[in-house]
Amino acid sequence: MSHPKIAFIGAGNMAFSIIGGLVKQGFDASQIWATNLTEDTLSSVKDEFQVNTTTSNIEASLEADVIVLSVKPQVLKTVVEELSDILEERSPLIISIAAGITAKTIQEWIGAESSIVRCMPNTPALLQCGASGLYKTEQVTDQQAEIAEQLLGAVGITLWVKDESGIDAVTAVSGSGPAYYFLFMEAMQQAGEALGLDSETAKKLTLQTALGAARMALESDDDPATLRRKVTSPGGTTEQAINTFNEGGLSALVNKAMKAASDRSEELSVILAK
Ligand SMILES: NC(=O)c1ccc[n+]([C@@H]2O[C@H](COP(=O)([O-])OP(=O)(O)OC[C@H]3O[C@@H](n4cnc5c(N)ncnc54)[C@H](OP(=O)(O)O)[C@@H]3O)[C@@H](O)[C@H]2O)c1
Repeated sequence: MSHPKIAFIGAGNMAFSIIGGLVKQGFDASQIWATNLTEDTLSSVKDEFQVNTTTSNIEASLEADVIVLSVKPQVLKTVVEELSDILEERSPLIISIAAGITAKTIQEWIGAESSIVRCMPNTPALLQCGASGLYKTEQVTDQQAEIAEQLLGAVGITLWVKDESGIDAVTAVSGSGPAYYFLFMEAMQQAGEALGLDSETAKKLTLQTALGAARMALESDDDPATLRRKVTSPGGTTEQAINTFNEGGLSALVNKAMKAASDRSEELSVILAK
């Protein structure tokens, strides 16, 4: 792994996880800078990973090869404008993980056609079990794209989308996806309780089943539809449940829900560009 100088602007949850993943993989901590407006957050990241820290975004960015924008979307414009001279003059690779802000909007704020990789990680990245969609502007070199993959790869799997609109779809699938599974787990736990199990038993059975099913789907050569057919005996209990889901229009409902998430992601990009 090459060790470029990386500055994380905003040392919150996501930056903490990515830095943790990088350091765990043997990335040289002395090449990493993390910034935050408050010293408290910085001391925890410094104590944990021995990276360089500063409350000055400019100081961290002055010599960085890669600048990771890991602040909340609402403060991104202020941060980009603060750094715009450095970003324009030094042309580092910019990696933005801020939800809903397009690469084009960031280029407009900088006032230059910068190399930008826009990423949509998801919450399991906090456990290094994430799934990130990545989009790159045409200015990004192959080497820079590889760096972005290494960086987000430190907290899970990475997949590229060709068009930036693909990030709206990624948001609907993996970005918001953990909440869909949580919702399904809630419903299964409640249904288990309605069938007479105590709450703890219903919860444990639901969660372990979700883990087991996910591992089977990931580790098997069969796709999920084949796995489902294999555990659905004709006339059996699973078939009764699957038929009930199908009669209730589960596929159409999932389709509708994810289209709504994708549309909202697109709308938010317009709102956040202002
Ligand atoms: N968490 C997720 O699962 C997830 C998933 C997908 C995308 N994202 C994106 O990842 C980004 C970071 O999310 P997060 O969950 O890590 O948020 P977070 O924990 O709030 O981290 C953001 C950090 O930026 C700091 N900050 C605020 N203003 C700053 C400034 N001007 N200069 C430097 N640092 C500043 C904040 O400090 P204070 O707290 O002191 O204000 C905070 O520590 C967001 O844009 C979010 O959309 C997150």
